[in-house]
Amino acid sequence: MKKTVLSGIRPTGNLHLGNYFGALRNFVKMQDEFNCFFFIADWHSLTTHPNPADLHGNVKQVLAEYLAAGLDPEKCTLYIQSDIPEIPELYLLLNMNAYIGELERTVTFKDKVRKQPDNVNAGLLTYPVLQAADIIIHKAHLVPVGKDQEQHVEMSRKFARRFNQIYKEEYFPLPKPFNFDADLIKVPGLDGSGKMGKSEGNAINLADSPEVIRKKVMKAVTDSGPTVPNQQKPDSVQNLFTIMEIVSSKDTHDFFDQQYNNCSIRYGDMKKQIAEDIITFTSPIREKIEEYAANDAFLKKAADLGRQKARESASKTISDVRKLIGFRSL
Ligand code: TRP
Repeated sequence: MKKTVLSGIRPTGNLHLGNYFGALRNFVKMQDEFNCFFFIADWHSLTTHPNPADLHGNVKQVLAEYLAAGLDPEKCTLYIQSDIPEIPELYLLLNMNAYIGELERTVTFKDKVRKQPDNVNAGLLTYPVLQAADIIIHKAHLVPVGKDQEQHVEMSRKFARRFNQIYKEEYFPLPKPFNFDADLIKVPGLDGSGKMGKSEGNAINLADSPEVIRKKVMKAVTDSGPTVPNQQKPDSVQNLFTIMEIVSSKDTHDFFDQQYNNCSIRYGDMKKQIAEDIITFTSPIREKIEEYAANDAFLKKAADLGRQKARESASKTISDVRKLIGFRSL
């Protein structure tokens, strides 16, 4: 039997190259090998109080971007979290066996308390319980997530195990964090920082126009240039070379590497090349994003199919769970 893989993304902005090379590209490959569930975590995004128009727009945009990047609603189950009422029911049930102490100790929760002290809502505290409901409602085995989400997956495992123990049945598989490719590609930021991310404001989005991509790349941080042959590259310059390794041909990368090593490099030329290679890479995806985002009927059809498949799986779990807990018909 195929293992079940599940992952969610909060709809808070456009998908960027870091999302693509860090996860999305692998999701596309996984569709053929696993029983895959991918969803848009719109309930989770409410912790930051988006306005209704932004919430709706972001859900549509992420759906269009997922589809444009190659997720196939026939192969995987691609759905919107808020279409699945079985998830909050399981969340409510799991909350009864989730303890305030363990929730307060969650790293992401402590972070939020520090960063947004005036909005420490109960949804933030129980965020990992909702995430556990997302995962175990489809009895997922594998959860492809980045480092920052590993604790949440560990907590899901703990809540699943606890449920099995309380009700004396190995009902839920225990989910694990999962790396599809041993060498996940981490896309660096354009600001000399370690990582491309939307909150870092250093990201190139899949939907960015060629002009926007050129502008962002030209602004990337560098230094004043090498003065000694073969000198070590500072982080900001190394980042540009790493991006080149990802989006350009090996010859192009090696050409600029050689120029760096003999101190003849002109960062402006290198950036122009990087921008054009990013544009070549993202253009087919961007064109599809634009086409899909403008086609409500197409998006609705994909979301309807996703809802239907996800509810079929979720309602089976919920009906088993109700019986195990003791909600039985009179
Ligand atoms: N918390 C995840 C994030 O912020 C999003 C998410 C919600 C998720 N539910 C999930 C990820 C279930 C994996 C599995 O990135």
